[in-house]
Amino acid sequence: MKTRFNATLAVALGALATVVVASVGWAATDPSPVIPLVVNGNLTLTDSAPAPANIPGLKTIYSGWLFRDPDTQAMQTDDFSNPGMTGVDAGQAEWATVDGTEGKSCASCHNGIESMKGLRASMPKVTKDGKLWSLEDFINGCRTNRMGAKAWGWKSTEMKNMTAAISLQSRGMPVNVKTDGAAGPFWEEGKKMYYSRYGMLQLSCANCHEDHYGDHIRGDHLSQGQSNGFPVYRLSTGGLVSLQDRLFGCIRDTRAESFKPGSPELHALELYVASRGNGLSVEGVGVRP
Ligand code: HEC
Ligand code: HEC
Repeated sequence: MKTRFNATLAVALGALATVVVASVGWAATDPSPVIPLVVNGNLTLTDSAPAPANIPGLKTIYSGWLFRDPDTQAMQTDDFSNPGMTGVDAGQAEWATVDGTEGKSCASCHNGIESMKGLRASMPKVTKDGKLWSLEDFINGCRTNRMGAKAWGWKSTEMKNMTAAISLQSRGMPVNVKTDGAAGPFWEEGKKMYYSRYGMLQLSCANCHEDHYGDHIRGDHLSQGQSNGFPVYRLSTGGLVSLQDRLFGCIRDTRAESFKPGSPELHALELYVASRGNGLSVEGVGVRP
């Protein structure tokens, strides 16, 4: 079953690789019309914006939401129909749960989870001692150094729920990651990765998400690969997916040995990808097919 699926996928992607290499036929297509993403009838999110000056490959940036079919789009416009909100509720419960040898919960030090407002919009960011940290690193840093609790796995349900609950606090705020100063070298590394060809298919991120967004590969509608909707709820697998897990999957699908979530490579790539969406709204929890 799995082998057959992979073989089919390889044929589909192989066909795309041929098209890309031959440089004929396809080009990026902007969504038209660009419909507004309004949540719960009262919060209008920015789902398109002029591209940041340091992203010359794009004129306009678009949220991945715009590329989804109307039914999937509708689920994200109402918290009662957004299946990702179950994870948010669970994350909020974890926030108040005591764990570890110090007898503390997140709330013991940070009070309400609203204190995390704005944080998701600036993730990942460089710490005082020069490390590029994602939200997951900050959460595990507090768990291990301040609570005496075990680190959560990057793909654990607890971690995904907590990142969803924290991300929701920034819903509607513009993505605004730093790309210069201490972040500069990480951003350059991520940019280099974005334009590098990976795997047997020899495809770069840009080949799909810059040169061909708006096109279809076997029923999948290619977006610009923006990260403002993450973590997202994926209907096909019935659960939340973290951004680095998605990046892992995109590299693996070029039939390459991929980088692990939490690796330095995926941190740099996460920063660069986030910066391509500077100006789009954080969506809290996106919904994907
Ligand atoms: C013992 C107190 C304590 C506990 C318990 C604690 N934290 Fe923290 N947390 C801190 C301190 C202190 C900082 C650093 C604040 C700073 O540098 O501005 C911090 C920083 C953070 C940051 C980064 C904030 C930023 O603005 O950069 C996040 C995210 C975070 N904590 C999440 C959590 C979560 C989630 C939990 C529970 C799993 C938790 N913390 C538990 C004390 C705590
Ligand atoms: C063979 C084409 C292809 C390549 C190469 C590729 N991706 Fe993707 N990517 C997809 C498809 C298909 C999806 C799911 C539909 C969509 O949102 O585009 C996706 C989704 C994504 C998403 C989620 C977008 C959302 O809103 O849900 C991100 C982020 C992403 N890709 C980043 C990358 C990065 C970074 C690279 C380079 C390491 C990359 N992709 C390489 C095809 C590709």
